[in-house]
Amino acid sequence: MATEVHMHGRIGESIKRKEDGRFLRGKGNYLDDIELPGMLHMAILRSPHAHARIKSVDTAAASAMPGVVAVVTGDLMAQHKLAWMPTLSYDTQAVLATDKVRFQGQEVAAVIAETLYQAEDARDAVEVDYEVLPAITSPDKAKEPGAPLIRDDKENQKDNHIYHWEAGDQAATEAAFARADKVVRLRTFYPRCHPTPLETCGCIADVNGATGKATIYMTSQAPHAVRTVFALVTGLPEQNIRVISPDIGGGFGNKVPVYPGYVVATAASLLIGRPVKWVEDRNENLISTGFARDFHMDGDLAVDKDGKITALRVHLDSDNGAFFADAQPTKFKAGLFHIVTGSYDIPAAHVTADGYYTNKAPGGVAFRCSFRVTEASYLIERLVTNAAIELGMDQADFRMKNFIQPEQFPYASATGWIYDSGDYPKAMNVALEKLGYDELRKDVEARRKKGEVTGIGIASFTEVVGAGHGAEFDILGLRMFDSAELRVHPTGKALLRMGTKSQGQGHETTFAQIVTEELGIPAADVAVEEGDTDTAPYGLGTYASRSTPVAGAATAMVARKLREKARKIASHLLEAAEEDLEWETGRFYVKGSPDKAKTIQEIAFAAYTNLPEGMEAGLEGVHYYDPPNMTYPFGTYAVVVDIDKGTGQVKVRRMVAVDDCGVRINPMIVEGQIHGGLTEGFGIAFMELITFDNDGNCIGTNFMDYLLPTAWETPRFELGETVTPSPHHPLGAKGVGESATVGSPAAYVNAVIDALSPYGVTNIDMPIGPDKVWAALRSKGVTE
Ligand code: CDP
Repeated sequence: MATEVHMHGRIGESIKRKEDGRFLRGKGNYLDDIELPGMLHMAILRSPHAHARIKSVDTAAASAMPGVVAVVTGDLMAQHKLAWMPTLSYDTQAVLATDKVRFQGQEVAAVIAETLYQAEDARDAVEVDYEVLPAITSPDKAKEPGAPLIRDDKENQKDNHIYHWEAGDQAATEAAFARADKVVRLRTFYPRCHPTPLETCGCIADVNGATGKATIYMTSQAPHAVRTVFALVTGLPEQNIRVISPDIGGGFGNKVPVYPGYVVATAASLLIGRPVKWVEDRNENLISTGFARDFHMDGDLAVDKDGKITALRVHLDSDNGAFFADAQPTKFKAGLFHIVTGSYDIPAAHVTADGYYTNKAPGGVAFRCSFRVTEASYLIERLVTNAAIELGMDQADFRMKNFIQPEQFPYASATGWIYDSGDYPKAMNVALEKLGYDELRKDVEARRKKGEVTGIGIASFTEVVGAGHGAEFDILGLRMFDSAELRVHPTGKALLRMGTKSQGQGHETTFAQIVTEELGIPAADVAVEEGDTDTAPYGLGTYASRSTPVAGAATAMVARKLREKARKIASHLLEAAEEDLEWETGRFYVKGSPDKAKTIQEIAFAAYTNLPEGMEAGLEGVHYYDPPNMTYPFGTYAVVVDIDKGTGQVKVRRMVAVDDCGVRINPMIVEGQIHGGLTEGFGIAFMELITFDNDGNCIGTNFMDYLLPTAWETPRFELGETVTPSPHHPLGAKGVGESATVGSPAAYVNAVIDALSPYGVTNIDMPIGPDKVWAALRSKGVTE
């Protein structure tokens, strides 16, 4: 007898987030909520200097203080061959400094005590004698002849240069520039900013001396990769290492790297035989953990007299800090920056990049970004708006003229990407319509005649997200696939375990929805687990918007595998040939007799109770998905600003964001992701900055100096969408987690530039505070 199918939560439904029940009730389980019996606490002593030789470290007073169990120095770590560790970019990084400190905030010693207060008090009693050295705070200073050598620990390192890297065709590009009617130039700096998750980084290391098992609770976006790195570095057998990422309060790339605190806490737990907890405070998070951007970019655009772009030439200097610890695919030293041709059909392009050591914190992370795509998107969108202004063309028309057209996909870019799909004119048209662009342009002209300073900025970004495929993309040799394991229980409820790790993106909901779509099990009946390396299948983790393109695809694929087994069981139950069965979400029925059916729940029960002869019991499987290509989400963002001539204050009057991330699994969650990204983009464009004085003192180490936007400053967002499915993703989905942070900074800045262009201002670097706007206007003689 056919059973009625109840199903809720298919793809495209904005069901409420399953995880929010516990988060809203304060019942989340974050790292700092975890207390283990006998747990000790660790505090880290950090360098006050950006560059200094360590003459001595005296721990006698600290060791004698109440509650102190151990004081760990670099020399002690060296005795265990753990003073240095490998980075994700094949460099080395000091765990605790032995010879020199190389950035302000670097880890020098650690105190382990019964309570956190005792650990912090004793930390302040550790005496370090430093010989201060001159600090280098920019690539320009790093390359000066005679500049102090930062990495004198490396045998063959004779200067501060880290890498040189190129993409594209230099000869073709130079030839196109030689023929160009016009060359538009922009030298811009994408300043250092910080992912700033609400929850800082931390870990609890619990090494059991009796069993040898090391359980490490860690705020990690990539727990499996950490397990493997730990096994390789410490020599512990990998099956004896269990990394558990509990609930994570935001990561944004900041929680990908392995930080020295994790290594010291684990070594301390191993030696002491008790669990050791280390949790950063805000100041430590901002001063020492993975920063973002810090790219100095020179871009030249060759344009012919009809306004067609003929070539792009880019050079960038990256400021990588004291250790090259960027978290990015190994092959690409400047990340995926060579997506810099963006949404435009540019026949020739050449990109060169050089990385430099400086006396700043290491670890350029993919802050809501697919490995430097943000910087690339910013540069090309700024250049394109400047080109339109310089040519006296409308920004939207200029983009329309140069877009890759829908029929050109799959499109091979001049720097080596194969864009899977796109429809840029459509996204632009939706944005312009939503904005009422033609009327608005007239309104801008009318306001300008009255002396108002107002403008419209556009950015039509293209991203590249969802690394791998594994042949091209790896981190320390680990191919960038991802995984999903699905078990359907006898009662038709399911458990989905994945190699990714949500930090607030709603994975427990959206990945359950994929199972609903593929098997017809309601999303409420699918538990999603991530983050425990003893139970989840191996995966490379969540960053760079890769979860939906890679692990989402793995989920669809494993569900499809189970559906094929379910078909065999249904054929047995219905006594009908497999090819006579029709699938309709949630059930198989006999062709022509829709009431002769078995639901997925009935089939699941039979998988444990009534199987065809010779079939293995159970309904479960695992799939490791190695994507054939990246996905290429895109969109058009448009911003309207009004500027107060007297103060330089910029007010965002409107922000329209049209995104195309292919098929949306949960539209509400997608919109939430976009709102968050637009807010982060706003913060970066106008407020957020980590900078350094000439001595290498870090400015921006607390929330009084590092200005995050709150609801008060944040503009209202008007969202729109187009849907261009990815042709190779099993669900047609593309990533979205980062789009708005990637796409929006250029839109905000372009609006300011458009507003100031009548006064001859064509460049202001972020963050655009009122001081910079005021100075720019005054420099052009505006005195009001
Ligand atoms: O890797 P990460 O989770 O940060 O980024 P993502 O794959 O872009 O996904 C962010 C959130 O948006 C997840 O909960 C996704 O499942 C959801 N999403 C969606 O519903 N539809 C899409 N086409 C893309 C993402």
